[in-house]
Amino acid sequence: MRSRLESFPDASVALVQGASRGIGLGLVKALLEDAAFETIVATCRDPASAGDLRSLACDRLSIRALDVTDPAQVENLGRALDEEGLRPSLVVNAAGVLHGEGFAPEKKLEDLDMRALERVFAVNAFGPALMLKTLRPRLAREGKAVFAAISARVGSIGDNRLGGWYAYRASKAALNQIIRTAGIELSRRNRNAIAVALHPGTTDTGLSQPFQANVPAGKLFPVEQTCDYLLSVIDGLTESDNGGFFAWDGKPIEW
Ligand SMILES: NC(=O)c1ccc[n+]([C@@H]2O[C@H](COP(=O)([O-])OP(=O)(O)OC[C@H]3O[C@@H](n4cnc5c(N)ncnc54)[C@H](OP(=O)(O)O)[C@@H]3O)[C@@H](O)[C@H]2O)c1
Repeated sequence: MRSRLESFPDASVALVQGASRGIGLGLVKALLEDAAFETIVATCRDPASAGDLRSLACDRLSIRALDVTDPAQVENLGRALDEEGLRPSLVVNAAGVLHGEGFAPEKKLEDLDMRALERVFAVNAFGPALMLKTLRPRLAREGKAVFAAISARVGSIGDNRLGGWYAYRASKAALNQIIRTAGIELSRRNRNAIAVALHPGTTDTGLSQPFQANVPAGKLFPVEQTCDYLLSVIDGLTESDNGGFFAWDGKPIEW
């Protein structure tokens, strides 16, 4: 088995949050094929219904239940890592919601709905903040350590020319601010660690499915391609990238 993630120490631990399907599942598959990572912890809300993830079962994969919007579950994850002596060198927070039962991205102000706003913010922004709170003291202290949150270009305020999608855009902008702020704290408290927000590019998953008709040819990435891009960006990150917002091709995105 070869290693593409050569910037990480040998026998590292990776943790992927939101691994039941889509990009999170693709990242678990890619990490299992990478020699750099001895243990991959994959979390999802309901492992019993995550058949694709469970089909990857092997000695290196540890699957755990985690609803990222539940602070008690996030704390439990932290305690479980302590008990197993696992200190992740790489954490990818992949979970995100754009649409769900009873809600869709807003086209206009009248579409705003308090429950949808709360749900989207809870998964996309508050969950990753809880993950940072719990995992910061548990990140590997030796070698490179990365906390990567999968954000979205539409969370860029400077790049917003189309409007709409209030909850999703604003939740990703909030996530970006959380990452920026955590990056500053990491530079003081975890000097080997880097926090980044990453835009995966439009990817063929359930999240983008209802909106794929408007995507120009060649701009809809298969999950495997996106995961390759994201892991290359993660591998290339250095201290000077801490707190940044980058696209799948490694280019910085304006806030
Ligand atoms: N696909 C794209 O084109 C695109 C573009 C830009 C950014 N992104 C971002 O990329 C990330 C991954 O998206 P995707 O395309 O892979 O979406 P997806 O296929 O819809 O997968 C979303 C994942 O989030 C998980 N999730 C939802 N709520 C959760 C919660 N409360 N706790 C834990 N996990 C939860 C889902 O788990 P369940 O199976 O339990 O529901 C699922 O694993 C998201 O952050 C998304 O915003 C995607």
